[in-house]
Order: sequence, then C-alpha cells, then structure tokens
Amino acid sequence: MTELSARQPLIVPSVLPADFARLGDEVQELCEAGVDRIQWDVMDGVFVPNLTFGPDVIAAARPHSTVGFEAHLMVVDPDELVGRYVDAGCELIIVHAEACTHLHRTLARIRQLGARSGVSLNPHTPAAFVESVLAETDMVLAMTVNPGFGGQAYIAAVEPKIARLRQMIDDSGLPIELEVDGGITDQTIRGASAAGADVFISGSWMYAYSDGKAAAVTLLRAAAIESQSQRVAAR
Ligand code: DX5
Repeated sequence: MTELSARQPLIVPSVLPADFARLGDEVQELCEAGVDRIQWDVMDGVFVPNLTFGPDVIAAARPHSTVGFEAHLMVVDPDELVGRYVDAGCELIIVHAEACTHLHRTLARIRQLGARSGVSLNPHTPAAFVESVLAETDMVLAMTVNPGFGGQAYIAAVEPKIARLRQMIDDSGLPIELEVDGGITDQTIRGASAAGADVFISGSWMYAYSDGKAAAVTLLRAAAIESQSQRVAAR
C-alpha cells in the first residue's frame, strides 16, 4: 500500500442541480460550504441525451469561485472542445475513454494546454481501458451511474472496478486521483471509498440535504475518511 492511496478525500459538487439563473451565487455558496472543487457536467445531447453548459457559461461563473473547476466532457468530440473549456477556466478536463479514438493523444494535449487531464469510464467500460495511459492521466473517473442526468441510483456493481483501478494506480506509483460520480450520498460514499476512490462527486444528494451544503460536505468527508481508514488498516 503506498501512501498515495490514502490521500485526503475530496468532496466535489456537480452543479447540475443548481439554479442556472443564479450560477454565480450558486458557485459562491458552494465555496462557502467548503467544497474542494466544482464539477461542470458538460453534455452535448449526443454522447448523452441531455444538453448543458457551454464554455461561456463556465467562464462567466469562474470569477465567483475560490476553488478550481473541472469540466466533465460528456461529448462525442472532446478533441474539438477541450481547448475552449481550458480557456473558460477549467483546471481539470475529463474526457470519456468511449469518446476518444486516440485517448493517449487527447490526454497529452490537455496537459499541453496547461490543464490537468482526466479520463472517465462508463459503468460497462473495464479498467483495462486506462492501463496504457496512466502516465498521461492526472485523474481516473469511474462513473457509478450511466451519465446524462443527476438523481440516478448508485451502481454498486462498479465497486470491483474501482478496487481494480485503485490497485493499478497504487502499482504505478503515480499521483493519480480516483474519482467516482453518480448517486453519491452519505451512505453510498462508504462503499466507493472502501473500494479505493478518493474524490467524490455529489449533486442531487448534496443539494437536497436538509441541513444545508456545508453540513453535507462535512458528512460526506467524514464518511469517506472513515471508510478509507478501514480500507488502509485492512491492507
Ligand atoms: C452524469 C452526471 C451526474 C452528476 C451527479 O449524469 O455527472 O452523475 O454529476 O449527479 P447525482 O449526484 O445527482 O447522481
């Protein structure tokens, strides 16, 4: 077990449930709630059956944030769009392995543009899809829902893949984040963290939490740390 797999868990909200008429204020509220980063779910209506944020929308929100932005590109042609989301102020760009003909080159290009690179795997896509690109990757995202919409149920069947990715990252010795996205609550985060994830996306649960976003962030972080500690101790 390397110390890399026991890094401090990060809590990253998706702004998909936010009030799109108040995105600047929403971003500011998330920063005040103590989140570690903010994720923008970029959807083109083709790769997934939903349409969301263009780069100009994100650029408009950027001055209102004191934390970094990551763009989750759920699009059919990420090579065409990567540069525009870097220019919009996203420090981390996540592309889907399923949408990249030349994933190795796309990840390298994201870094050449000055951002950190991320690769996302849909629930059905095996961990092996990233084993040859770990050196080009700053983050691997294991989707725990089929992407396109918030509020879906967590797919626990992805947990063995999370554990496999954890082992691959540990064996590589590279400082790669392992993120999960979809259906993350104060309960499901425990299974994802126990499997080896260290970055957690939460949208609908965090926005619906009755005690507010700051309490939700605290609860998620504590649950992730507890499960991570149990995992590390069991190794
Ligand atoms: C893909 C999106 C969602 C969102 C999180 O559909 O990436 O997973 O960020 O949504 P919740 O937390 O509501 O499942």
